[in-house]
Amino acid sequence: MANRLRHAGLIVSLVLLIGIVTGCGGAKQEPAKTNPPAPPAQQVASQPAKVPALSAKPGDWKPDGVIADNEYAKMQQFGEFEVYSRIDGDKVRMALKAKTNGYVAIGFEPAQRMQDADIILGFVKDGKATVADMFSTGPTGPHPPDEQQGGKNDVTVFGGSNKDGVTVIEFERKLDTGDPKDKVIKIGDNKIIWAISEEAAFSGKHAKRGGGVLKL
Ligand code: HEM
Repeated sequence: MANRLRHAGLIVSLVLLIGIVTGCGGAKQEPAKTNPPAPPAQQVASQPAKVPALSAKPGDWKPDGVIADNEYAKMQQFGEFEVYSRIDGDKVRMALKAKTNGYVAIGFEPAQRMQDADIILGFVKDGKATVADMFSTGPTGPHPPDEQQGGKNDVTVFGGSNKDGVTVIEFERKLDTGDPKDKVIKIGDNKIIWAISEEAAFSGKHAKRGGGVLKL
């Protein structure tokens, strides 16, 4: 028995010795020096995304969900929510953009919180854009369509896209619609609220929301 154990011990020592001499075994097998080093994660993350060019005299406007170079005059960022805008006569044209597969929404001139905000909310589902003209009846909603509150739908020209987890909604609206369920959008400062939901449905609650002043 003792002999057998001594024999086994000798074999283990021999295998270990061969391993050390040849460099075999464990993690040392990797020919690390011949592999090009992977770029640090930071380097990849900091590649700037292409920002569309803006123009004081923007060119054609197409509500196709693509924010083209020189399609808008201004861009303002509220957290992760981007608003592109241009004024054309008595109309404002906008693009709302955020990293989501759900809805993006903007609300004009709330009294406090969501109360009385004139909301335009849009999403893209199965390649189809849906946009609604709504009005919030309370500080945390609800915000039914204007049409259900004695008003009318004033956002009939719109489009959108949902690509690579980013949603863009483009629409136009008269600055002053005359609808009691709309606020007048001003050339100048507009108090706004914004929201991003993960759900492509009117009923979805926001994952992110905030407020600010939109300068047109
Ligand atoms: C079905 C849809 C929605 C539901 C159920 C909802 C519900 C609520 C609730 C319960 C709050 C208070 C708690 C919190 O801060 O999360 C809130 C706050 C807020 N919501 Fe909404 N919301 C909806 C849509 C929207 C939309 C479309 C907007 C913007 C256009 C919006 C903008 C805001 C803002 C800015 C606040 C914070 C207000 C403050 O505390 O100053 N919400 N919402």
